[in-house]
Amino acid sequence: MTAPTLAQRYACWPALQQHHQRLAACALQALFTQDPQRVEKFSVEAAGLRLDYSKNFIDTDLLAALVGLSQQADLSRAINDLFNGAMVNHTEKRAALHTALRSPQPVIEAAAVNGTFARMADMVHKVHVGEWRGYSNETITDVVNIGIGGSDLGPQMATHALKPFHTGHVRLHFVSNVDPSCLQDLLSHLNPARTLFIVASKSFTTLETLQNAQAARHWLQQFAPGDAGENHATARHFVAVSSAVNKAQAFGIAADNILPMWDWVGGRYSLWSAIGLPIALAIGMEQFNALRAGAHAMDEHFRHAPIAGNMPAILGLLGFWYQHFWHTTSHVVLPYDHYLRYFPDYLQQLDMESNGKRVARSGEALPYHSGPVIWGSVGTNGQHSFHQLLHQGTHMIPADFILTLQSHQKDCGEQHRHLLANGLAQSQALMCGKSRETVEAELRAQGLADNEIAFLAPHKVIKGNRPSNLITIDQLTPATLGALVALYEHKVYVQSVLWDINPFDQWGVELGKQLSGPIYAALEGSDTALDGSTATTIGRYHALHSGK
Ligand code: F6P
Repeated sequence: MTAPTLAQRYACWPALQQHHQRLAACALQALFTQDPQRVEKFSVEAAGLRLDYSKNFIDTDLLAALVGLSQQADLSRAINDLFNGAMVNHTEKRAALHTALRSPQPVIEAAAVNGTFARMADMVHKVHVGEWRGYSNETITDVVNIGIGGSDLGPQMATHALKPFHTGHVRLHFVSNVDPSCLQDLLSHLNPARTLFIVASKSFTTLETLQNAQAARHWLQQFAPGDAGENHATARHFVAVSSAVNKAQAFGIAADNILPMWDWVGGRYSLWSAIGLPIALAIGMEQFNALRAGAHAMDEHFRHAPIAGNMPAILGLLGFWYQHFWHTTSHVVLPYDHYLRYFPDYLQQLDMESNGKRVARSGEALPYHSGPVIWGSVGTNGQHSFHQLLHQGTHMIPADFILTLQSHQKDCGEQHRHLLANGLAQSQALMCGKSRETVEAELRAQGLADNEIAFLAPHKVIKGNRPSNLITIDQLTPATLGALVALYEHKVYVQSVLWDINPFDQWGVELGKQLSGPIYAALEGSDTALDGSTATTIGRYHALHSGK
């Protein structure tokens, strides 16, 4: 069975098609000359962030039409459902209440939530003041977070983003890949007596995490004397964050060292839970709470602002508009801030694991595309690699520029101004391009002959008219980072509502996990029926390892 098409779902579809025809004939640049108020009209501020979406194919009529679309999708009801704990994750029969973890009054399991944050604060305090001691009674200098997916990407991104706020008590490290090089490379630099491991796994069944945790424990035991009794090395050097507390205990982690999380927190939304422990160890509990408060401020905006002035809704609607009327298939995110360099990686899981779905909530196949490919990297680095395709490639790729107006580096104004100038110039270049007339005039000024100009000009023309959003932040702080993360979480939710899909499950990632079992057995030598390609590679592995 196939789900209704978007045109069947939304009565406003023909009107949106007309808006597309109208706006496709416009030059973005000209929209600014036609309307001097354009930037004010198409900007919104919330929770310390400013979104300027004036460099998009939008005008007041289209904005009204997109608001109409959101009404037909019942977006306001869906927003209430999210915050009120409705079973939005219907395939796993759960609410998705990550917002409760940053609310001053959690709407669910408040005592357990607040109690866990109190225990987390206590752990952070003990490590920071040197009360937490290792097997040889030394203080902790290094903390290794072992986790993958949401148990890695969020904490890692935020820990790096908030480097200027690190208290300096401990160094943070992140191990995710099951490739032994990931862990072993790190361990070779660490002192086991002064290293604390966090095993971060909601399920405590994830192969990569358990393999790395076992290898870390094995490494520790090589150095630690007698691993027994309540003061044994594992108890002093391992903590866990998991909703499977019994499994963490069975691994050998002391009950006092296990922080719980709940099934109503999705993995990719879990940095707000005790999965955020590495962030708190890096910046202290007070600043971790500021991160939560910033996210809560964005939650309040998302919950209460009318759709026409609602930042996450606008980002979601614009992405939808481009995908279905301008046939875009990817979206690039370009933070111009070194500390946000892991933000695109984090967003990839948030967005693509959420909205990479092929069926509607009903289970019927989607007759339209759902989530786009999300990619990007930190500016200005990307300018010297993939921006060429953004400017002159055949795909139109909407872009989000994220700029912080104040650097954390003192006395580096010149360099920081170059950074900002480059970010703004890229957004401008996408919109304005370079016309044939300008190219020809430049070449003529360089003294080129007419035939050379005619040959070169088409290669140098940049058509422009490519849309982008500009998100500016005065300074990257725990609060503004919290707001930024919540902004994108809610954007993803808005789009899932427009596509009528469940953004909170991820059944697709299970297949690879299931298939890796028999392949692992074949690598170990068991006789397993495999496809020719896989069997050939395994044959080569065996030949190499048997010395043939
Ligand atoms: O890769 C799939 C996934 O289930 C993610 O959704 C999740 O963030 C990650 O694995 C890690 O899961 P866990 O925290 O249970 O180890």
